[in-house]
Amino acid sequence: MRLGAACAALMGAALCGTDAGAQGVQQAPGRPTIVGDAIPDSLTGHKGDAARGRAIVLNRQVGLCLLCHSGPFPEERFQGNMAPDLKGAGARWSEGELRLRMVDARKLNTASRHWASSPTSWR
Ligand code: HEC
Repeated sequence: MRLGAACAALMGAALCGTDAGAQGVQQAPGRPTIVGDAIPDSLTGHKGDAARGRAIVLNRQVGLCLLCHSGPFPEERFQGNMAPDLKGAGARWSEGELRLRMVDARKLNTASRHWASSPTSWR
Protein backbone atom coordinates (compact mmCIF):
# COMPACT_ATOMS: atom_id res chain seq x y z
CA MET A 1 0.00 0.00 0.00
CA ARG A 2 1.34 3.38 -0.91
CA LEU A 3 1.68 6.12 1.66
CA GLY A 4 -1.02 8.04 -0.19
CA ALA A 5 -3.36 5.17 0.36
CA ALA A 6 -2.54 5.17 4.02
CA CYS A 7 -3.78 8.73 4.19
CA ALA A 8 -7.21 7.52 3.30
CA ALA A 9 -7.66 5.59 6.48
CA LEU A 10 -7.07 8.57 8.58
CA MET A 11 -9.94 10.41 6.99
CA GLY A 12 -8.89 13.78 8.23
CA ALA A 13 -6.20 12.85 10.67
CA ALA A 14 -2.67 14.07 10.36
CA LEU A 15 -0.89 11.58 8.16
CA CYS A 16 -1.73 13.09 4.82
CA GLY A 17 0.35 15.88 3.49
CA THR A 18 1.93 17.21 0.39
CA ASP A 19 5.49 16.16 0.92
CA ALA A 20 6.33 16.15 -2.75
CA GLY A 21 9.60 17.96 -3.34
CA ALA A 22 10.25 20.67 -5.88
CA GLN A 23 10.61 18.09 -8.66
CA GLY A 24 7.56 16.18 -7.47
CA VAL A 25 9.72 13.52 -5.83
CA GLN A 26 8.20 12.19 -2.66
CA GLN A 27 10.53 12.30 0.32
CA ALA A 28 10.70 9.14 2.41
CA PRO A 29 9.47 9.98 5.88
CA GLY A 30 11.62 9.11 8.87
CA ARG A 31 10.97 6.02 10.94
CA PRO A 32 7.89 6.71 13.08
CA THR A 33 7.86 6.34 16.84
CA ILE A 34 5.31 3.79 18.04
CA VAL A 35 3.82 4.53 21.45
CA GLY A 36 1.61 1.73 22.74
CA ASP A 37 -0.64 0.82 19.82
CA ALA A 38 -0.28 4.12 18.03
CA ILE A 39 1.97 6.36 16.00
CA PRO A 40 1.12 9.69 17.62
CA ASP A 41 2.91 12.00 15.21
CA SER A 42 2.17 12.79 11.60
CA LEU A 43 4.61 11.03 9.29
CA THR A 44 5.00 14.11 7.17
CA GLY A 45 4.56 16.90 9.67
CA HIS A 46 1.43 18.00 7.80
CA LYS A 47 -2.13 17.87 9.04
CA GLY A 48 -4.51 15.40 7.47
CA ASP A 49 -6.77 16.26 4.58
CA ALA A 50 -10.18 14.60 4.92
CA ALA A 51 -11.29 15.34 1.36
CA ARG A 52 -8.10 13.88 -0.10
CA GLY A 53 -8.34 10.85 2.15
CA ARG A 54 -11.93 10.23 1.14
CA ALA A 55 -10.99 10.44 -2.53
CA ILE A 56 -8.24 7.87 -2.00
CA VAL A 57 -10.58 5.50 -0.16
CA LEU A 58 -13.06 5.70 -3.04
CA ASN A 59 -10.43 5.32 -5.76
CA ARG A 60 -10.29 1.68 -6.76
CA GLN A 61 -6.91 2.09 -8.43
CA VAL A 62 -5.25 3.81 -5.47
CA GLY A 63 -6.78 2.92 -2.11
CA LEU A 64 -8.47 -0.39 -2.88
CA CYS A 65 -10.18 0.03 0.49
CA LEU A 66 -13.67 -0.72 -0.85
CA LEU A 67 -12.47 -4.08 -2.08
CA CYS A 68 -12.81 -5.25 1.53
CA HIS A 69 -14.53 -2.45 3.42
CA SER A 70 -17.86 -0.70 3.23
CA GLY A 71 -18.42 2.77 4.57
CA PRO A 72 -20.54 5.91 4.46
CA PHE A 73 -20.13 6.36 0.72
CA PRO A 74 -23.67 6.29 -0.74
CA GLU A 75 -22.41 7.11 -4.24
CA GLU A 76 -20.43 3.86 -4.40
CA ARG A 77 -22.50 0.88 -5.55
CA PHE A 78 -20.20 -2.01 -4.77
CA GLN A 79 -18.50 -2.14 -1.40
CA GLY A 80 -16.67 -4.90 0.38
CA ASN A 81 -18.07 -7.02 3.19
CA MET A 82 -15.03 -8.86 4.55
CA ALA A 83 -13.80 -6.09 6.84
CA PRO A 84 -15.31 -3.74 9.42
CA ASP A 85 -17.51 -0.93 8.10
CA LEU A 86 -15.36 2.19 8.08
CA LYS A 87 -18.26 4.30 9.32
CA GLY A 88 -17.32 5.67 12.72
CA ALA A 89 -13.71 4.42 12.58
CA GLY A 90 -12.59 7.91 13.51
CA ALA A 91 -14.62 7.65 16.71
CA ARG A 92 -13.48 4.10 17.53
CA TRP A 93 -9.79 4.86 17.13
CA SER A 94 -7.57 7.81 17.89
CA GLU A 95 -5.65 9.46 15.09
CA GLY A 96 -2.44 7.75 16.20
CA GLU A 97 -4.12 4.34 16.48
CA LEU A 98 -5.45 4.70 12.94
CA ARG A 99 -2.02 5.73 11.73
CA LEU A 100 -0.34 2.55 13.03
CA ARG A 101 -3.15 0.40 11.63
CA MET A 102 -2.53 1.93 8.23
CA VAL A 103 1.24 1.98 8.33
CA ASP A 104 1.82 -1.49 9.76
CA ALA A 105 -1.19 -3.31 11.23
CA ARG A 106 0.87 -6.50 11.54
CA LYS A 107 2.73 -4.90 14.42
CA LEU A 108 -0.54 -5.36 16.32
CA ASN A 109 -1.90 -8.52 14.74
CA THR A 110 0.30 -10.79 12.66
CA ALA A 111 -2.82 -12.17 10.95
CA SER A 112 -4.01 -8.71 9.86
CA ARG A 113 -5.36 -8.46 6.33
CA HIS A 114 -3.68 -5.10 6.03
CA TRP A 115 -0.34 -5.20 4.29
CA ALA A 116 2.37 -2.95 5.66
CA SER A 117 2.79 0.32 3.86
CA SER A 118 5.96 1.14 5.74
CA PRO A 119 9.34 0.84 4.05
CA THR A 120 11.14 -2.38 4.96
CA SER A 121 13.85 -0.25 6.55
CA TRP A 122 11.40 0.62 9.32
CA ARG A 123 10.74 -2.98 10.29
C1 HEC B 1 -7.58 -7.00 1.72
C2 HEC B 1 -8.72 -6.42 2.39
C3 HEC B 1 -8.56 -5.01 2.94
C4 HEC B 1 -8.22 -3.88 2.27
C5 HEC B 1 -7.91 -3.73 0.78
C6 HEC B 1 -8.23 -2.81 3.23
N1 HEC B 1 -8.58 -3.28 4.46
FE1 HEC B 1 -8.82 -2.20 6.17
N2 HEC B 1 -9.18 -3.90 7.21
C7 HEC B 1 -9.32 -5.15 6.66
C8 HEC B 1 -9.60 -6.11 7.72
C9 HEC B 1 -9.84 -7.61 7.52
C10 HEC B 1 -9.63 -5.38 8.91
C11 HEC B 1 -9.85 -5.95 10.34
C12 HEC B 1 -8.54 -5.90 11.11
C13 HEC B 1 -7.33 -6.46 10.40
O1 HEC B 1 -7.40 -7.48 9.69
O2 HEC B 1 -6.26 -5.81 10.54
C14 HEC B 1 -9.37 -3.98 8.56
C15 HEC B 1 -9.35 -2.94 9.46
C16 HEC B 1 -9.33 -1.60 9.11
C17 HEC B 1 -9.53 -0.51 10.00
C18 HEC B 1 -9.89 -0.61 11.47
C19 HEC B 1 -11.40 -0.76 11.43
C20 HEC B 1 -12.09 -0.85 12.76
O3 HEC B 1 -12.78 0.08 13.12
O4 HEC B 1 -11.91 -1.88 13.45
C21 HEC B 1 -9.45 0.64 9.28
C22 HEC B 1 -9.63 2.06 9.76
C23 HEC B 1 -9.16 0.25 7.92
N3 HEC B 1 -9.10 -1.12 7.86
C24 HEC B 1 -9.00 1.13 6.88
C25 HEC B 1 -8.65 0.75 5.59
C26 HEC B 1 -8.36 1.69 4.53
C27 HEC B 1 -8.45 3.18 4.66
C28 HEC B 1 -8.02 0.97 3.44
C29 HEC B 1 -7.56 1.46 2.09
C30 HEC B 1 -6.41 2.32 2.12
C31 HEC B 1 -8.14 -0.43 3.81
N4 HEC B 1 -8.51 -0.51 5.12
C32 HEC B 1 -7.93 -1.47 2.95
C33 HEC B 1 -9.20 -5.48 5.34
C34 HEC B 1 -8.80 -4.63 4.34
